[in-house]
Amino acid sequence: MTIRKMATRDIPVVSAIDSELYKNAITETELLQEITDKNNGTKNPLTAPIVAVNDQGEVVGYTRFDRRVGTTDSLAIFRISTAPGQGRQGVATEMVMHVRSKLKEMKCNSIFAKVHQDRIPAMNLFAKCGFNCTGTEDVSQGDESFEAYDFEYSVPLDDRNPRHIASIAKACREERAGKEE
Ligand SMILES: CC(C)(COP(=O)(O)OP(=O)(O)OC[C@H]1O[C@@H](n2cnc3c(N)ncnc32)[C@H](O)[C@@H]1OP(=O)(O)O)[C@@H](O)C(=O)NCCC(=O)NCCS
Repeated sequence: MTIRKMATRDIPVVSAIDSELYKNAITETELLQEITDKNNGTKNPLTAPIVAVNDQGEVVGYTRFDRRVGTTDSLAIFRISTAPGQGRQGVATEMVMHVRSKLKEMKCNSIFAKVHQDRIPAMNLFAKCGFNCTGTEDVSQGDESFEAYDFEYSVPLDDRNPRHIASIAKACREERAGKEE
């Protein structure tokens, strides 16, 4: 299996997988826009969507991720999907590991993912890939209400740039000082 950037020729198959797995499927136009923006540098090319391709050359999974909105040092996985019938062969694990491998280049320390309460395989996937469940949220989307689980992976402190550790220590000191006032 190989992991590579999503190309425009992958859009129909990715879109077909997405429509099978989600009610709010991403449109082919949205995918094309994302690929174009990230390939021409309008948006960060390091977060270009990726596909997993099996040994027969078929696209069997994809993921979309980006910097987490409102943060400077966190990524967020928006979608991660393995084509129906191709599960349990390590496809999604490889894609999560690809996102993890981008952390250093992106100068980020964590990855965030929000998981619908019913998506047990996804929860297991993130737990297996070193994520912890850090909270829950009640979500209303259209006429559906559900609980979502927050999953977060944090780079071990040992692997972080010393400047990052210094900034964490500074933030802790400032928080403590604030509480003592
Ligand atoms: C979640 C999903 C991406 C996992 O893809 P996958 O390629 O099968 O994952 P992997 O083969 O890498 O498996 C990794 C781990 O996930 C968990 N897992 C995967 N499929 C599972 C299933 N059907 N039931 C329970 N756990 C499952 C297991 O812990 C597995 O490890 P193991 O096989 O060693 O036990 C896939 O099931 C999927 O596309 N689901 C629908 C879309 C979705 O829910 N996406 C997440 C939205 S946040």
